[in-house]
Amino acid sequence: MSTQEPLYSKDAAEALTQRERANQRVQGRIQLVLDRLGKCESFLDIGCGSGQYLRAVAAHGVTHVVGIDESPDRLAEARRACPHAELHKARADSLPFSDQSFDVVLAAQVLHEIYLFGQPDELPRVFREIQRVLKPKGRLIALDHLDPGAERVRVRLSSQARWQLDYFVQRYKFSTVSFQEHPDGTLWLSRRDLQDFVTKIWSFGTAVEDLEMRETHCPFGREQIEALLREARLTLTEWLAFEEISEDLKDYGIELVEGASWPRKFLLVAQR
Ligand SMILES: C[S@@+](CC[C@H](N)C(=O)[O-])C[C@H]1O[C@@H](n2cnc3c(N)ncnc32)[C@H](O)[C@@H]1O
Repeated sequence: MSTQEPLYSKDAAEALTQRERANQRVQGRIQLVLDRLGKCESFLDIGCGSGQYLRAVAAHGVTHVVGIDESPDRLAEARRACPHAELHKARADSLPFSDQSFDVVLAAQVLHEIYLFGQPDELPRVFREIQRVLKPKGRLIALDHLDPGAERVRVRLSSQARWQLDYFVQRYKFSTVSFQEHPDGTLWLSRRDLQDFVTKIWSFGTAVEDLEMRETHCPFGREQIEALLREARLTLTEWLAFEEISEDLKDYGIELVEGASWPRKFLLVAQR
């Protein structure tokens, strides 16, 4: 049994819940998951957070809906969102369920937190736990941030975005952000730095900012995830890269002057 403190303080949990509820892209992500549920009577959401997926899956007609999270504050939100879900305070590498309990396991935006903040061998253990609790032919649906690689792109920033970039450069702790500024006002920077910057602006000034400044939104490439699935004896049946960075850039007044847009999330389905 782990004695690790939850990643989210009460205030950070509240700020993240507000973000999850306000984020217009969440409904699209939930729909992608619902479209892939197939025949599902028992559903487990790992790192269920504020319970948005639990609520949607229950409304979709799944009878046995279960969520786990390490944070009691996040579980309290999930309880409000989906009162009849079965909820447990647990860590993902030690699931309190017997073998072969679920038709579908969901891991939405939790794998990168386990990878970045957990023990060095925790993520492979989590994949093995998922395999253990899935029924034969049961499916894992995972959704997370995708590493866009180190290629550099050229952007033009609105004056507000330029100020926000300076703030981000000072505050970001995970790595050093670097860019080159040209006399015409455009900037060259890596796709990774741009992705981390633009997907964290929402957190500036909130109770979750400190945590956001310690993690990257470029954690995984497809090969790394496929190796974890293989090691856990799960077979990849679908890989979808989605949510174009160009949409986020538009939201914050950033123009991509050189270089093509890229998808910043992946969704996968893998079968036991
Ligand atoms: C970014 S939130 C995503 C929440 C939800 N899945 C969603 O997509 O809206 C990640 C959640 O995973 C939980 N979490 C992080 N590490 C965990 C672990 N090792 N075991 C269980 N829960 C964890 C956090 O408390 C948080 O609620």
